[in-house]
Amino acid sequence: MNPELERAASLAAQYLETLDSGKVSQELDADTIRASLQKDLTEEGLPPLQVIEELARDARGGLLNTASGRFFGWVIGGATPVSIAADWLTSTWDQNAATYACSPTTAIIEEIVAGWLKDLLGLPQHASSAFVTGCQMAHVTALAAARHQVLADQGWLVEEQGMAGSPPIRVLVAEHHETLLRALRYLGIGTNAVTRIAEQPDGGIDVAALEKELKKTPDMPTIVSLAAGDLNRGIFDPIDSVCDIAHAHNAWVHIDGAFGLWAAASERLRHLTRGIEKADSWATDAHKWLNVPYDNGIAFVAHPDAHRIAMSIPAPYKVEVKNVRDQFDWSPEWSRRARAIPLYAALRALGRRGVAGIVERCCELTRELVSQLETLPGVEVLSAPIINQALVRFLDPDGDHDARTDEIIQRVNQGGEAWFGATRWHDMRVMRISLSNHRTTSEDIDRVVEAFQAALRA
Ligand SMILES: Cc1ncc(COP(=O)(O)O)c(C=O)c1O
Repeated sequence: MNPELERAASLAAQYLETLDSGKVSQELDADTIRASLQKDLTEEGLPPLQVIEELARDARGGLLNTASGRFFGWVIGGATPVSIAADWLTSTWDQNAATYACSPTTAIIEEIVAGWLKDLLGLPQHASSAFVTGCQMAHVTALAAARHQVLADQGWLVEEQGMAGSPPIRVLVAEHHETLLRALRYLGIGTNAVTRIAEQPDGGIDVAALEKELKKTPDMPTIVSLAAGDLNRGIFDPIDSVCDIAHAHNAWVHIDGAFGLWAAASERLRHLTRGIEKADSWATDAHKWLNVPYDNGIAFVAHPDAHRIAMSIPAPYKVEVKNVRDQFDWSPEWSRRARAIPLYAALRALGRRGVAGIVERCCELTRELVSQLETLPGVEVLSAPIINQALVRFLDPDGDHDARTDEIIQRVNQGGEAWFGATRWHDMRVMRISLSNHRTTSEDIDRVVEAFQAALRA
């Protein structure tokens, strides 16, 4: 066997084995990491096995161990061993997933995985799909189709005529992720097109306020973007009623379900996504809650014609094969990684119950963590988990709760037993909890709570 491949496999397995006992935080600062990785670029190169050994050694201290079951920052899933193994095969086969002719297996795997996902997530089977780097590019892909449609309805073919002089588009949102705004920038729609609609007191777009806004300018090309699980609290907009109202006003409904869409895979949680099948496009990630390695996002579009017009690419050297799908007609890239392969393996290994199991277990453990933290002195729960996200802050006897919150997070993170992120929410410094990793166990939760006890006592 090739020695580099063999050694890399054993180093990777060793890394995973140390996750439970090791520190979650990175151990070294930027200067030290730079010093250990910065080498002279040699004329003649080095023996490959030596390079692999040194890479594993020199990179280690600067790795934030997000794969650990005690990592709760941003929304970062782990990766199941089967999906890592399939990812290795993906790199080894090194297929260009641009077209069927380039890699028939890859094109067919995308077809199959898209069908499984639509079934699992409750989306219409006729929806088209694109396998992209992440939810950011899923937004770009889906909203390119939306842009096409809402402008074509006004007689404007944006793919030929561009955005200069086009009828203005408005985008109506409540809670939204920054990647949505960046997608609007990429597409030339611009962030000024966004109108923020009020939320209900307990979260979720205010449907009456949305309807009022839609009625104000009934003929304006409109996209309504909804959250299926927002980043801070995991709030779901009322998708069912919004779709009915928005469609009555000819608006396109886009769903950001980066992680929350996976709630639809669980019988217990599916009610949160009620009406999801009525939307016009959906953006989600597999590298979050499905626990496959980065880079793995998916866009679905209920209007394949709009999707195809927005993305398709004419090429004189295209090999026409009947009855198959050329991926570059649906995705924003030309040459691309065969990223559906790890997804295929992950879904086969987990099955429906396995996917639901990860989602449900993460939600249960988030509740367990928050309810234990709540019993500690000076802990205020600002948003109890709806799914796997929650917001907590730490109260300071002298009233500087923002500083106290930062201080406690820093102590826990520096201790290395767990890792949490901070954010601003409703003008408060808060700790955001996101639990999206298949590795997390009840024992991890107990260890984390002990780390907070110690940090609060210190
Ligand atoms: C709700 C939501 N949408 C979109 C994104 C962006 O996803 P990605 O980083 O995969 O592009 C995130 C990332 O956390 C998210 O939480």
